[in-house]
Amino acid sequence: MQFETIILGAGAAGMMCAIHAGRDVLLLDHAKAPGEKIRISGGGRCNFTNMHAGPANFLSQNPHFAKSALARYTQWDFLDLVGRHGIDWHEKTLGQLFCDDSAKQIVAMLLDEMTQAGATMWLQTTIASVDKTETGFRLVIESDGRRKTVDCRHLVIATGGKSIPKMGATGLAYDIARQFGLTLTDIRPALVPLTFPDGRFTGLAGVALPVRVSCNATRFDEAMLFTHRGLSGPAILQISSYWREGDTIRVNLFPNSDPFEALRAQRQQAGRKNLSTVLAQMLPSRLADYLTREWQIAGNLGDQSDAALGALCDRLTGWDLTPTGSEGYRTAEVTLGGIDTDGLSSKTMMSKTVPGLYFIGECVDVTGWLGGFNFQWAWSSGFAAGSAI
Ligand code: FDA
Repeated sequence: MQFETIILGAGAAGMMCAIHAGRDVLLLDHAKAPGEKIRISGGGRCNFTNMHAGPANFLSQNPHFAKSALARYTQWDFLDLVGRHGIDWHEKTLGQLFCDDSAKQIVAMLLDEMTQAGATMWLQTTIASVDKTETGFRLVIESDGRRKTVDCRHLVIATGGKSIPKMGATGLAYDIARQFGLTLTDIRPALVPLTFPDGRFTGLAGVALPVRVSCNATRFDEAMLFTHRGLSGPAILQISSYWREGDTIRVNLFPNSDPFEALRAQRQQAGRKNLSTVLAQMLPSRLADYLTREWQIAGNLGDQSDAALGALCDRLTGWDLTPTGSEGYRTAEVTLGGIDTDGLSSKTMMSKTVPGLYFIGECVDVTGWLGGFNFQWAWSSGFAAGSAI
């Protein structure tokens, strides 16, 4: 069987590409249903884009690579599509846009657009091999319990990264890239909770508070959550993309106020209060208790010199923590790194050395922050390849 275009992966990027790739498109996926990550994303409401999306919200060895695709299919283009399908949405925080109702609406919208575009989709299909032919590519696949050969002129790889193997993530895109001589950057789990040894924070599990967290000259002001295994919450997921084994992260527990001035003022009014009691009024009490024990905080507020209070506040605003690892691909929202963008055209996402072979979405070395940026990259890169075909 011959198709003009075959797209591997019916996720966010693959479906967007199928909508724009013109006639005679076949979309293949080994899953039972398309867009499974869309369906479960954003707690079932899908954080489908971000109002502030721009190149600065993405990590890549080449920070300029994403500019072209992001500029040609923007968050406003996607919002326009959402609007045309009558899907109601809201901004939750920091420009993050979610469905009012259900993420399933986004999947249904993409399927509807694909039907209108005339694309064919085969699910529960295994890719056995991919080879170059004189005019394009030949794939051997298993579909409906039968081995089949399908040919195409354009082959788009949109099988995503390695995050969440239980949801069907595989390294197929990386294998195909290597097979065709493209290089890969280091890949690692990102937007992932960080772990600490010996159940260090077990007693704090469930405590959350706003923090500023920094690592390797990048910082985020968002919420942090203590878990049985370590640290999570948006601030930690964000910084995990910048953290490497052995690095320390610095946590400021007072991102929006000056604890030194607050403690000095309290000292004047309530000097007889125990320092740890005062801390428990300024921080979640379980965390204040933990720090009191860890840092051996003792004595009344009135007994503390400016220097002693200053030293305490330096620790409260610069708590250095060294994670031992991350929860890995098991829970990571994305895979950082991927197919080296040096080998791809930033306009079309086509390989510079293998004409007709395209890579889009998460498998490419373009990784967004938390907050709808990864879906925006999937929409933008899917559109770039689709409209170039
Ligand atoms: P995606 O992973 O979506 O699709 C790849 C497709 O390829 C899948 O359908 C898979 O079955 C198929 N496939 C894989 N290997 C195959 C093989 N060997 N053979 C055949 N088919 C194969 N982002 C965001 O912007 N906002 C959000 O709210 C969230 N929330 C979120 C929650 C959770 C729990 C996760 C895990 C991730 C998110 N993300 C997110 C990230 C976002 O889901 C992700 O970046 C995009 O889905 C990437 O889109 P792709 O199309 O590139 O891959």
